Amino acid sequence: MIVQTGSAFETEKAAAGFGKKLVPGDVLVLTGDLGSGKTTFTRGLALAMGMNPDIVSSPTFTLMNIYPGTPALVHVDFYRIPDGGDIFFEELDDALNGNAIVVIEWGDRFLEQLREMVSGRLFVACFRVTGEDLREIVIEEDSHH
Ligand SMILES: Nc1ncnc2c1ncn2[C@@H]1O[C@H](COP(=O)(O)OP(=O)(O)OP(=O)(O)O)[C@@H](O)[C@H]1O
Ligand SMILES: [Mg+2]
Repeated sequence: MIVQTGSAFETEKAAAGFGKKLVPGDVLVLTGDLGSGKTTFTRGLALAMGMNPDIVSSPTFTLMNIYPGTPALVHVDFYRIPDGGDIFFEELDDALNGNAIVVIEWGDRFLEQLREMVSGRLFVACFRVTGEDLREIVIEEDSHH
């Protein structure tokens, strides 16, 4: 799926539409530059899952935020994990193989490891800044999984 958005709100709406197709156990890697819309997209997923999008805050420093629900939304950010670092921690492993929907910003930095850790479907969404308020979002199911 390829979508162009012209505002943060449009990115939220696109995410909410895509989020309806997700099922518990699905994992979504979000890749793209700083400020390209990964956290904004996650707000839209929360909306699709019946949550208030305003609860979503960037997990850059917390590493992982868990929003309870049926299913829960787990929001992870690998930005601060150093290159070659270890992404294994028990809460993440549990989330990846449980009944949550898991979103991982900068997950492409450790895609090989994620492929081994994820048992459900794995999607990769690439965000590109194409103008001040313009973003191109390409989402594909990971073919190497
Ligand atoms: N079309 C758009 N889609 C998404 N965000 C947009 C768009 N146009 C402008 N913006 C703005 O761009 C910024 C996107 O920030 P956001 O935190 O979602 O990026 P991010 O990819 O998560 O960054 P980081 O890598 O730092 O976590 C917000 O300030 C948002 O308002
Ligand atoms: Mg972010």
